[in-house]
Amino acid sequence: MNEMPTHSKKLFIKTYGCQMNVYDSDRMADALAPHGYQPTGDIAEADLVLLNTCHIREKASEKVFSELGRLKELRDARRAVGADMKIGVAGCVAQAEGEEIIARSPVVDLVFGPQAYHRLPDLIARSERGQVVDTDFPQEDKFEHLPAAKKEVTIKRGLTAFLTVQEGCDKFCSFCVVPYTRGAEVSRPVRQVLAEARGLVEAGVKEITLLGQNVNAYHGLDETGRSVGLGELAFLLADIPGLERLRYTTSHPRDMDDALIAAHRDLAVLMPYLHLPVQSGSDRILKAMNRRHTGAEYLALITRIKAARPDMALSGDFIVGFPGETDADFEATLSIIREVGYASAFSFKYSTRPGTPGAEMGDQIAEEVKTERLYRLQELVNAQAAAFHQSCVGKTLPVLIERPGRNPGQVGGRSPYLQAVHLEGGADLIGAIHQVEIVGTGTNSLTGRLKVAAAA
Ligand code: SAH
Ligand code: SF4
Ligand code: F3S
Repeated sequence: MNEMPTHSKKLFIKTYGCQMNVYDSDRMADALAPHGYQPTGDIAEADLVLLNTCHIREKASEKVFSELGRLKELRDARRAVGADMKIGVAGCVAQAEGEEIIARSPVVDLVFGPQAYHRLPDLIARSERGQVVDTDFPQEDKFEHLPAAKKEVTIKRGLTAFLTVQEGCDKFCSFCVVPYTRGAEVSRPVRQVLAEARGLVEAGVKEITLLGQNVNAYHGLDETGRSVGLGELAFLLADIPGLERLRYTTSHPRDMDDALIAAHRDLAVLMPYLHLPVQSGSDRILKAMNRRHTGAEYLALITRIKAARPDMALSGDFIVGFPGETDADFEATLSIIREVGYASAFSFKYSTRPGTPGAEMGDQIAEEVKTERLYRLQELVNAQAAAFHQSCVGKTLPVLIERPGRNPGQVGGRSPYLQAVHLEGGADLIGAIHQVEIVGTGTNSLTGRLKVAAAA
């Protein structure tokens, strides 16, 4: 933190994958800011380009290599005029492929995994002397070494912020690379989480989304060395004055414990929107996926959650075409979707990932079959999302107004159920929760009208 920047350098970070990468990219920018790196929106003028990559599906991870091809041209153009561009690969592809990236793309100066972000300034310095690879899982706590953003930087990023509380995964679903790229589950201590949350709220943040690859497996230690779960953590965070909304993602059904469900019943700040992936509705496939629960157990869990919070909106992830998935298995997935009724959903064709048990399984499903199943599943979940949006019309919802709208005289924000809401109104509305009457729906959003001066 003490080094004075010799001269300002331009930084461009391109982020792929999940919200945890979005959070990490900001933390990398924060780690580099004291070393003179200023973010730029124009990649062509960047002195340092970092690709924060995702390994989850083949397509995601292949994107990196096409991007590196394009970067080589940009770098060569800069070299031709006497400037330069350093290129780094971070994130899950870096963690998974390390040295291979350098072998495949000599244009890369440094490759480093998510556990090395606090060492970034040092890695950049070392890369002056040749290519650097750092994919160790260190014992030290990187969060103790990563600097926080300055207040003005935090609020420039928006009224809503991500906060990683847990990293890694011990679940080993048979399709998934995350346990290999992010390592074993680690929870940040309660004190650290609360301090970061307070800093965000003091800077003006109104809504925090707690992040973890398995966020509800959170078990951070408090000052007395006692293990605290996500439900209890939510209660502690809810006491921070000025924090208006709290969310968390992504959860595993097996870690939805009573304390967390009680938090949904008792805490007004905890938003009634839950991303709870089930992946498949077929018990046979769930078993092969190593999800360690049945469809019926998932449905029973949803019933308990809705008993605690009747207006809970649900979101899910689904994989079609897992090895061995029959028409009947796929129908079971459609059937569980009909039973739950999702407000939103993310669905994917199964992608074979090297090193995972799924890759070794026989009976891989043909691409055309996956395409057809994905289409049918998406038709169903899109109709459910549209019905959910429609059901909000006529209701008055508290909307956190976050930004100017598309057109002058408009503003935009989010409902408790994470829906985008557009309405007429001035910039003075931005930064607070306002009561908004929902009057219509767009493709992926709601339109509303400000309720004036009614008791909020
Ligand atoms: N930790 C989260 C999310 C992991 S990745 C969880 O446990 O739910 C996000 C989603 O990507 C997963 O929920 C799954 O639906 C999908 N996914 C993961 N691996 C995949 C693969 N090999 N092929 C297709 N989709 C995959
Ligand atoms: Fe992957 Fe399963 Fe862990 Fe989620 S719970 S990160 S899907 S292994
Ligand atoms: Fe992708 Fe890594 Fe997130 S593989 S989904 S960026 S944890």
